[in-house]
Amino acid sequence: KRRGHDGHDDKDRQLDDFRAAPESDALTTDQGVRVDDTDNALRAGERGPTLLEDFHNREKITHFDHERIPERVVHARGSGAYGHFEPYESLAEYTCADFLQEPGRQTPVFVRFSTVQGPRGSADTVRDVRGFATKFYTRQGNYDLVGNNFPVFFIQDAIKFPDFVHAVKMEPDNEMPTGASAHDTFWDFCSLQPESTHMLMWLMSDRAIPRSFRMMQGFGVHTFRFVNAQGRGTFVKFHWKPLLGVNSLVWDEAQIAAGRDPDFNRRDLWEAIESGSCPEYELGVQLVAEEDEHAFAFDLLDATKIIPEEQVPVRPIGRMVLDRNPQNFFAETEQVAFHTANVVPGIDFTNDPLLQGRNFSYLDTQLIRLGGPNFAQLPVNRPLADVYTNHRDGYGQQVIQPGDSYFPNSLSGGCPAHAGSGDLSGVFRHYQESVAGEKVRVRSESFKDHYSQATLFWNSMSDWEKAHIVEAFRFELGKVTSDEVRERMVGNLAHVHGDLAGAVAAGLGLPAPQPDPTVPSLSSPALSQENLSAEGIR
Ligand code: HEM
Repeated sequence: KRRGHDGHDDKDRQLDDFRAAPESDALTTDQGVRVDDTDNALRAGERGPTLLEDFHNREKITHFDHERIPERVVHARGSGAYGHFEPYESLAEYTCADFLQEPGRQTPVFVRFSTVQGPRGSADTVRDVRGFATKFYTRQGNYDLVGNNFPVFFIQDAIKFPDFVHAVKMEPDNEMPTGASAHDTFWDFCSLQPESTHMLMWLMSDRAIPRSFRMMQGFGVHTFRFVNAQGRGTFVKFHWKPLLGVNSLVWDEAQIAAGRDPDFNRRDLWEAIESGSCPEYELGVQLVAEEDEHAFAFDLLDATKIIPEEQVPVRPIGRMVLDRNPQNFFAETEQVAFHTANVVPGIDFTNDPLLQGRNFSYLDTQLIRLGGPNFAQLPVNRPLADVYTNHRDGYGQQVIQPGDSYFPNSLSGGCPAHAGSGDLSGVFRHYQESVAGEKVRVRSESFKDHYSQATLFWNSMSDWEKAHIVEAFRFELGKVTSDEVRERMVGNLAHVHGDLAGAVAAGLGLPAPQPDPTVPSLSSPALSQENLSAEGIR
C-alpha cells in the first residue's frame, strides 16, 4: 500500500498532512505511548480476571465499538476516485466560476459513484439509478455537482422524497428485498404518482444496469444558473459523457454478476485506475438564455423533463480524468459529503422545487451521519481555498481559531469580515432574480404532463432496446403481488405507447389497457426552434 503522497496535485499534497506515515512501525496508543503487548490483556495472575487499568486494552476495544457510523439514507453503496477537471475553453461569457475561466487549468476532483436503493453491502449490478457526484476543489471553494446517470427524476417536488424512498427501501418488518426495486410498495407508489413515468422508462431500460462506472453518463438533472461577471444569468443543464461510450450489461449478466461478484462495478473502477486505464468523461452544457425561460412546452424547473438535444445541443466544455484511488475507504469514500448547495461564484440555483428541497436535505443528513457541524474539516471535504469562519466549537472541532469569533468586532482586530461593499471579485452573491407571487402549493400547468417525454424516450429506442424495456417491466411487475397495482401501472403505460402497454399487459396476462381520456397530455408540438430567441440556442 502506498504511504505518503505522490505529490500528484494540490489536493493530494493537502491530504498528505492527514495521512498516518510514521517514522517507524512501533505501535502506540492514541496518546502516542508505545505499547508492549497488543495480544494479551493485563490480568491478575495467569488465570485471573482482566484488569481495568489496562488502558491499551480498553482503548482498543472502545475504539472498535465505535467504528460504525450511519450509512447514507440513500446512495449508501458507493465507490470513489480522485482526479482532475480541465476546461477546453473559457466560459467567461456565461459564468465567472473560477475553474471555468482558463483552458487547460486543472482543478482537483473527487467523484463518488453509487447505487441508490441498496444498503452499503448490497450488490453493484442491481437495476437501479446510479449516483454520479463530483466535488471540484476550486480556488474559490468547493463546488459539488451531485448528479445521477439519468437526466430526469422520479418526482417533481422534494416534499415527496421521504414517501418515495420509504416505498423504494426494504420493508419495515422484514427488511426485504435488498436487490432490485421489484416489490409492491415501489410499484404502488409509482403507479399512483404518474410523474414518475418518464424516469421509469429510463429505469426499465439498459441504462439502469451499467456495465462499468467508466461507461456511464452523468447528469446534473436540474436546470441550474450560470452567472457571469456582469451579473447576467444563463440557464444551464450539465452532462457528463464517458469517453469509453455508454455500455450496459444485459439482465442475465447483471444477475449472474450480482451473485458471483457483488463488487463488479467497484472492482472494475479500482482495477482500471490501478492499472493506469484511467476513466475520462467530457463535461457538456446545454445553455438557455433567460429570455427563453418560457419557450418550452415543459417547465425548465420540472426535473422530470429533459431539454431535447435537438432543441438545445450539448456543448462540450471540458474533460475529467479519474486517476487515483482513495487510500482509506472510510476516511475518503464514506466520509465525503456532497451537497447541492455547495456552489461557487458563477453558479447558482433555480427555483426547481426538487433542487430547493435538496438544498436543505444534504447538510441536514450529514449533521447526523458525520456527527456534528464540523465535517467540512474532514480531509476529503476540506477545501483547497482558505477557510476562515466565525463558527465556533461543536463536536470534532479541529481548528484553533485565535481570538474572538464575532462580527462586527472592534476589539480583536483579526476576525473574519464579510466583503460588504468592498472588493466583490471572487465573492458569492445570490443571483438577484425577481420573485413575486402568493404562497401556494400548486405547480405550473405543464408539470401535469407526465407522459409526453416518456413517449419521446420510447420512440427513440431501437427494437431490441424496446424489447429489453418490455422484458424489464414484465419481470418487475411480475413480482408484484397486487393485481390492482399491476393493472394501474399498465394503465399508466397506455399513455406512453400502446405497443408498450399492450406487450407488458400480454406478458402479465392482463387485457390491453386503453388510455384514460381525462388524463392531461400537453403532447408538445412546442419544442420547435422558432419558439426560441435567436440567441436561445447556443
Ligand atoms: C445522496 C443524487 C434527489 C436527499 C445522493 C447522492 C447522489 C444524489 C449522487 C450520493 C452522494 C454521495 O455519493 O455521497 C440525487 C439526484 C437527485 C436527488 C440527482 C434528483 C435530481 C434527492 C432529493 C433528496 C435527496 C429530492 C431529499 C429531499 C439525499 C440524501 C442523500 C443523498 C439525504 C444522502 C447524503 C449523505 O448522507 O451524504 N443524492 N439526489 N436527494 N440524497 Fe439525493
